[in-house]
Order: sequence, then structure tokens, then C-alpha cells
Amino acid sequence: EGVKLWGGRFASGPAEAMAALSASTHFDWVLAPYDIAGSRAHARVLHRAGLLSDAELDGMLTALDTLAEDVASGAFTPTIADEDVHTALERGLLERAGDELGGKLRAGRSRNDQVATLFRMWLRDAARRVVTGTLDVVDALVAQARRYPDAVLPGRTHLQHAQPVLLAHHLLAHAQSLLRDVGRLRDWDARTAESPYGSGALAGSSLGLDPEAVAAELGFASSVDNSIDGTASRDFAAEFAFALAMLGVNLSRIAEEVILWNTAEFGYVTLDDAWATGSSIMPQKKNPDVAELTRGKAGKLIGNLSGLLATLKAQPLAYNRDLQEDKEPVFDSVAHLELLFPALAGMLGTLTFHTDRMAELAPAGFTLATDIAEWLVRKGVPFRSAHEAAGECVRVAEARGAGLDELTDDELAAIHAELTPDVREVLTVSGSVSSRDAKGGTAPPRVAEQRDRLVERAAAHRAW
Ligand code: ARG
Repeated sequence: EGVKLWGGRFASGPAEAMAALSASTHFDWVLAPYDIAGSRAHARVLHRAGLLSDAELDGMLTALDTLAEDVASGAFTPTIADEDVHTALERGLLERAGDELGGKLRAGRSRNDQVATLFRMWLRDAARRVVTGTLDVVDALVAQARRYPDAVLPGRTHLQHAQPVLLAHHLLAHAQSLLRDVGRLRDWDARTAESPYGSGALAGSSLGLDPEAVAAELGFASSVDNSIDGTASRDFAAEFAFALAMLGVNLSRIAEEVILWNTAEFGYVTLDDAWATGSSIMPQKKNPDVAELTRGKAGKLIGNLSGLLATLKAQPLAYNRDLQEDKEPVFDSVAHLELLFPALAGMLGTLTFHTDRMAELAPAGFTLATDIAEWLVRKGVPFRSAHEAAGECVRVAEARGAGLDELTDDELAAIHAELTPDVREVLTVSGSVSSRDAKGGTAPPRVAEQRDRLVERAAAHRAW
């Protein structure tokens, strides 16, 4: 038999199917430590408002300590009759403090302001775990960028060979987007650091309780300005789900490339055995399952965001029971990411890159054509004509199955008067890469600077 929160008005308890539909302890029990922290803070403001004596406050805090220990040890667990985590813990408190004292804690609060507050607390802690995991992936990318400072590969647009770039530059591009995901979670955290506790069911409390004191004790920067908003809004949950979905999408783009790079056709990488799987029938197979699961989970994260937004849409103010559906999608996104981070960091950090293969492909497909055009521009030729001349170089070379660096002096001269044989100086991959030396470019010194700045920012995020 659970605690009846609304005994007075009702002659009978809920029907069995009603209780089964209503129950949430199978997922909201993770909020229990936060609920107890909220109860401690609430007991203190009741005491300060003169609604608990010194002795009652002592008794209440002692009972809450015992309850916290019993929850942590597993000695106290919810039952089917408890409905939700808040009700279960109220039963636990009444069992420990007695009905008389335990019954005083509910004054001036509602499960509506409780759950809105505890959910924010859980998410704020989860955000820190997600940041740590994301930084582990960033570290793996940076380690590879350091391991292969000079390796080149054909940079691509439209998946076609475009211009040669440093592998380190490419890997750091992924790290940049992950650091923005981290930044997004930190921005989100600042917005979410407002405590709804004290909002009551929706209208606030008449008992002279101090919401700012509760907020401070629970680690919030302040309490909410509007009790209706405090209990009804879940944009913090949707924004969190978005930040995780975006992160999932960014991880998925890395994963997709690893999958491509690991094919026989690309042949850029070999996966470490510890981070690959075999086939039950084809003995030769070594599959990139970590990358594929990363790609797959991004879909779940997007779905969790969409589902939550659909739940929130069209809910009138203030609290509606629909809001109980807010927790599972974000809990699920966090759980999937926490599984993913160590595996993805492990897989990325142990990739072997085949730098010869990548170097061989770097100039293929006339990726140095832009270098001819820009070389002509540096000699004073207008870019329009330079672009056309470089295009003609490609056409002539392609027609006789040669590379751009294999065009004869005569062929060059026939294409454009300014195309003297010394153009071949820029017709090497390393010459091309080194020439892109403005900030943000792929020249090795610029990439090293970029890496150092990124490492500094990552370290600052670690200290969050
Ligand atoms: N378990 C509910 C939730 O997660 C909180 C309880 C509020 N219930 C209510 N009937 N007002 O949103």
C-alpha cells in the first residue's frame, strides 16, 4: 500500500490499470538523490519560516539522511503503489520520521515544482558527464593529429577529390565541431541554472518560504522569476536533447568517414582488433561496428529530440501530466552517448593511417589545378583567365592520361603565355599544402597553431 497524496477527496484508490499507466518509478528513480537534496533544502526554509521547530528540523534531516543511505544501499526501493519517485520517498520519510513530523514536509511544495527542479539538476550533472566524454573523443582526434603531423590526403567536396589537405587539418575539423557541442552544453547550463522550487503547483507558495535559499543550496544561480513558467516549461529539456542530437550528428559524420576510409577502395585506415568485429560466416571480414553504431545511435538521438518536441507542442500552461513523458527521451540519449564515448575514443585513438596510400591519392583527380590558377594570379593574370588556363591544363593532361606535372613545356606554353616551366614548383602536394598559409589554412605551421589553440580550449572545458 503506497502513500495516498490525495486521500481526502477520494473514496477509493486507483484502478490497477490506472496505477500501471501512471507509474514512473521505473525511470524516475534516478532522481531520488536529487529529491532528497531538495527535501533537505525545503526543510531548512520551512524551519526559517517558523513552520518547523529546531527539534523538528533536526529530526527531519536525520530521517532524510537515513533515507538517503537506504536508497543508496538499495535497502529502500519503490513499490508499484508508489506512482513516482516523489511519492515513494515521501513514504520512506513517513516510515522513518513518523506520520506527524514526516507529514509536515509537503507544505509549500508540489510534485510539479519538485520534478521540474530535480530534472534540471539531473540534466546539469549529465551535461558534465557528456562534456567529459566528448572531450575524450576530442583528445583521440588530437592525438592522431599529433601522430601524423605531415600526412596528406585528398580533401573532398561532393565526395570528389578537391584539394590536398593535411590529415591533421581534417581530423581537427571534426574536433572543432565537437568543441562547439561542448560550448553549447555550457551555454545551456547557464540558462538552466534557475530553480523552480517554491513555485508550488503553479502559483507559488503562501507560506513565506524563500526560493532563493533553496536554489542556492541546490547549486542553482537563482530561482525562477515566474512560478507558472517554472513548473510548465521544458524547453531546457528540449534544448538539452538538441545539444545531444547535434553532438550525435557530429559524431556520426566522423563515423561515416571511418567507415569509408576502412573500405578496400579507400584503404586509408586499419582498425585495431580491439575495436573491430568479425563475421560469423566470412572469415576475412573486419567490420567497423563502433563507427556504425555511432552512426545508428545518432538516429535515436534525433528521434528523442523530435519525440520530446512533439510531447511539448500544444500543451497549455501550466503543468500537464504529459510532462511525465519528458524524462525518458533525454535519459535515453545520455545513456547511449555514455556507452558510445569510450568505444569511439578507443576506436579513433587506435586507428592506423596508411599515409603512403593517402599521399598517393592526394594529387589524383587533378587536385592541384587550383594551384596552377593561383600561381598565375600571383603572376598578375586575372583569375578568370587563370581559371580557364588551369582548366585547359586538366583537359590536355586528362586526354593523354598524364598528370598535371607531366605536361610538357610546349603544352604549357600553348595553353597560356605566362605558363612557364617553373609552374611545376607548385605542382606538388607538399607545395600546395604549404602555400595555404593564412590563418585557418592547411599549411603545417597553421595547423600546428590551430591544434595548440584547440588543446587549450579543450583543457579549459575539462576544468568545468
Ligand atoms: N511524476 C510526475 C512527472 O514526472 C510529477 C508528478 C506531478 N503529478 C501531478 N499529478 N501533478 O511529471
